[in-house]
Amino acid sequence: MRRRSLARSSRKSLRKIESLRIAEHIRSQFQLDWEGIHGPAHWARVRAIGLELADSTGADPLVVELFAWFHDSRRFNDSYDPEHGSRGAALAAELCGDLFTATDAQMALLKEACCGHSDGHLQADVTVQTCWDADRLDLARVGIIPDPRKLCTEAARSPLLRKKAMGRSERWSRWSWARR
Ligand SMILES: [Fe+2]
Repeated sequence: MRRRSLARSSRKSLRKIESLRIAEHIRSQFQLDWEGIHGPAHWARVRAIGLELADSTGADPLVVELFAWFHDSRRFNDSYDPEHGSRGAALAAELCGDLFTATDAQMALLKEACCGHSDGHLQADVTVQTCWDADRLDLARVGIIPDPRKLCTEAARSPLLRKKAMGRSERWSRWSWARR
């Protein structure tokens, strides 16, 4: 039976050791190119953008961090893979209590964010919206300019924040590395 050690009170960030353990576990089962478009460089940008957005939206930063790690963690390919979000959420649920702690409410938000992140939804709890916006704001890494009409929160639609996110995506993309 799965060990139950979920936190009773809501924590606001991952401990460094928790992040390291999550990274190690995800890498051990990751099916794609670790340096690819759905790998940890993307997750790091989603985390950075998401935490910045959370300051304005009031989203739960722990859920944002967990979303960054898990939402693409179980992709089987870099294109059409409609169930990858559900698989990522299931992996997070499997590891909760062993590699990190989160409340049941935080895990419910994480599940919703992971399962729906590639369906183009706009309406959800603000924490879920913040996760989706953070992911969409990193689309410039694959040459797509984030469309403000497809962003959920006012904070994400800010021209300044979009410009900052796009600059970061382009600077860190594989194609940018190849040009150096
Ligand atoms: Fe993503």
